[in-house]
Amino acid sequence: MSHAHETQKKPTGPAPLHGLLAEYESPWELVDAATKVRDAGFSRWDTYTPFPVHGIDKAMGIRMTILPWLVLGAGLTGLASAILLQWWTNAYDYPLLISGKPFWSIPANVPIMFELTVLFSVLTTLGGMLVLNGLPLPSHPLDLKERFARATDDRFFLLIEASDPKFDAKDTRALLDSTKPAVLDEVLEDRATPSEFPKALVYGMVILTAAAAVPFALAAKARFSKSRSPRVHLIQDMDSQPKYKAQRENPFFADMRAQREQVDGTVAVGELRDDDHLFRGKIGPEYARTFPPQIPLDEATVARGQQRFGIYCTPCHGFAGEGNGMVAQRAELLASTGAGKGMAWVPPSNINQAYLRQQPVGQLFDSITNGVRNMPAYGAQISTEDRWAIVMYLRALQTKSAAGH
Ligand code: HEC
Repeated sequence: MSHAHETQKKPTGPAPLHGLLAEYESPWELVDAATKVRDAGFSRWDTYTPFPVHGIDKAMGIRMTILPWLVLGAGLTGLASAILLQWWTNAYDYPLLISGKPFWSIPANVPIMFELTVLFSVLTTLGGMLVLNGLPLPSHPLDLKERFARATDDRFFLLIEASDPKFDAKDTRALLDSTKPAVLDEVLEDRATPSEFPKALVYGMVILTAAAAVPFALAAKARFSKSRSPRVHLIQDMDSQPKYKAQRENPFFADMRAQREQVDGTVAVGELRDDDHLFRGKIGPEYARTFPPQIPLDEATVARGQQRFGIYCTPCHGFAGEGNGMVAQRAELLASTGAGKGMAWVPPSNINQAYLRQQPVGQLFDSITNGVRNMPAYGAQISTEDRWAIVMYLRALQTKSAAGH
């Protein structure tokens, strides 16, 4: 049909020939017939069987599909895109250091590489299978042949299409006749099925396509509009809770502070510290010269003290307590190069000095707890027991140094 208006109305007159359909009662008859048709050099023809017939593809001369090659190509493309994507995002465009791990190493990227390889391959397998088979095929002239329904039951069919370049009304019929089919039938082109798409389906698809664009339109709008109301928060988790956080405002109190100060003259449960000897290192007004009875005078305590001293004190005082820790060394280095000009530097005391050897343990404890002159307080960081353990270790250091080791 060359004119557009002619395609609009239904074609009239006898339908043209679509092909010749031969029907057989057994698979081997079909295989024989297929061999003959193949040898005759036909190209547009096919067979239809209720179950897979062994040898039919060979009889028909069907060559292997190129689908595996397509899938291989797609899989490699997927692999390459996974490598490229991860390398570009993680190692090139936005390198993010995570626990000192390398920006780019194969093992961490294997899951995505595997996933994309599979994804690309699967989509190509499905799409390639459909395209290579000419699917989807909404209607076919054979659909109108009632006999043909037995192709799914107990009959074997062979169809040669009239559009085959080798097709000849007389010769092809003779060829099929020679294969002794149970029935040899003409198949006419389909004139019953409307060639146009059903209108309702078209409208439905248009509406669905339009509707599918709405979420994108909303997202695009949200990018360029401002709002004072909080965003829609579907999954709350524990984001908003009816509680006040420290440092926040609370209109319930006159001073608007959510964090309350301790009420004068009260002690929180478990916070009573009325043991002066243990908590302040004092007996009466004097610094205690003995360790509190709660602190065991044993090797374990000294060992604990050594360990805590190593953590909290050595940076300044050094391992032997002589005041030459890394911080002190660095300060002296800066001073010697003139870099620390104008900065007051008080060197950490040598713990082994005579006056510190004679200091009551309570006073050493007090120095650690509250700091002393330029040395900061460690009472907030080190527990009471550990501070006493450190004092015990200081005594061990001093004794050792006094003995000349
Ligand atoms: C940040 C560096 C620094 C750290 C850490 C530090 N100190 Fe000191 N410490 C000093 C300095 C500086 C002085 C001398 C302060 C001064 O004379 O103004 C000092 C002085 C002292 C003194 C002498 C107090 C006195 O009566 O003269 C003692 C004892 C002492 N530190 C013990 C400790 C112990 C125990 C620790 C670990 C819990 C510790 N220090 C951690 C810097 C430090």
